[in-house]
Amino acid sequence: MTGTVEVINPATERVVREVSLASADETDAAIDRAHAASPAWRDMAPADRARLLRRFADAVDRDIEHLAGLEVANSGHTIGNARGEAGNVRDVLEYYAAAPERLTGKQIPVPSGVNITFAEPVGVVGVIVPWNFPMPIAGWGFGPALAAGNPVIVKPAELTPLTAMRLAELAREAGIPDDVFQVLPGKGSVVGQRFVANPKVRKVVFTGSTEVGKQIMAGCADQVKRVTLELGGNNANIVFSDADLERAATTAPYGVFDNAGQDCCARSRILVQRDIYHRFLELLEPAVRGVVVGDPADERTEMGPLISAAHREQVRSYLPAEEAVAFRGSAPDGPGFWFPPTVLAPIEPTERAVAEEVFGPVVAVLPFTDEDDAVRIANDTDYGLSGSIWTRDVGRAMRVSRGVEAGNLSVNSHSAVRYWTPFGGFKQSGLGRELGPDAVQAFTETKNVFIATER
Ligand code: TAP
Repeated sequence: MTGTVEVINPATERVVREVSLASADETDAAIDRAHAASPAWRDMAPADRARLLRRFADAVDRDIEHLAGLEVANSGHTIGNARGEAGNVRDVLEYYAAAPERLTGKQIPVPSGVNITFAEPVGVVGVIVPWNFPMPIAGWGFGPALAAGNPVIVKPAELTPLTAMRLAELAREAGIPDDVFQVLPGKGSVVGQRFVANPKVRKVVFTGSTEVGKQIMAGCADQVKRVTLELGGNNANIVFSDADLERAATTAPYGVFDNAGQDCCARSRILVQRDIYHRFLELLEPAVRGVVVGDPADERTEMGPLISAAHREQVRSYLPAEEAVAFRGSAPDGPGFWFPPTVLAPIEPTERAVAEEVFGPVVAVLPFTDEDDAVRIANDTDYGLSGSIWTRDVGRAMRVSRGVEAGNLSVNSHSAVRYWTPFGGFKQSGLGRELGPDAVQAFTETKNVFIATER
């Protein structure tokens, strides 16, 4: 152990619980146990592995209210979102529970023999999770990794370990062997670093900042260790003048302020065609003022607090001069790391709040002239994770969808991540894809075997 951390409720600033942090030696010991558990998990009959994953999903399903309550207290997520996030873990487990019996290879025609491929598990997988979506992001890693026959160790963010710790208990209840699924609360610089440096970990799944993601990738290069990266975003919500303006404006706050903007998919740059710019702002203002910010345990609340005092200071540091603030929503007074939904307009695209990822409830509204200009502005960032396009012109929707360099786009909506479709980023938003029908392959190595049949 390297000490403890006090888990703080961001809506009240009260201590929820004290949690022990794993040391480097404890991490290596956990990796050794996972490595030792690997052959039995890999060789388990596919239907038995699938059954254990379904039981794990059932255990999560029975515990949804409890898990959601933990997330409300630990992360300040609204109760509605928190239930959805726990349900997402169940769904991901159920979806990938169908994979073990379907992990087929190929038979490829060759002369004088038979050629077959196998999807072999990579080995021990380390999943490093950020604080913004503690449950889903952990599940997107461990669900397909376990299904492919790999032991998994999850390192939750120091700030938000409680739901991951509970998931480990539920896995145990479901009968998943102890060393096949472990959760190790600890510091990134200690536990996360051992995932990178210990050669018995064969793959690292990292979600978090681009800065740390680059360090993880560089560290993994030393052993040519497999890595999946889900990093930051600075996403555009493009509104053309032919769009359903009412819908575009009334949904825009939820495309960016959900989870208090602490979402790599937050549409934090709204690009509006110049001839409707003022009308759009007129419609946006009541929608932003209408966002219900407050006690995350209240069923009516739509936005809770930021995760920590330090993060609130960071979000604040992005704001330009007060004149750039067009209007704000509300936020409670008193304890809690509150920050009101904030709309910046007009604002120069070079301002930090526009050019960088704020990761808070701040949105910039920028004008554009035509389709090419919209795509140019949308792509004027090192990131490429998500975005939205509002237009009634199907051809334009397709052209712009193909033109925007991002992994996840939605037309006339701000669709959330769906576990059965692929998710991931272009450019510095990441490497590889999670979720969807192919995610299990990212946790396997293709082995090719030729068997001679000549006499
Ligand atoms: P990071 O510092 O990147 O942390 C993410 C995870 O990586 C945490 O579990 C962290 O552990 C761990 N970590 C940190 N340094 C590490 C290292 N050297 N080796 C291995 N693991 C390490 O992100 P953050 O502090 O949570 O947030 C900072 C910024 O990152 C945010 O403001 C936002 O811009 C961005 N962010 C993006 C996302 C997504 S989904 N793209 C999610 C969260 C944050 P600790 O518990 O010790 O921190």
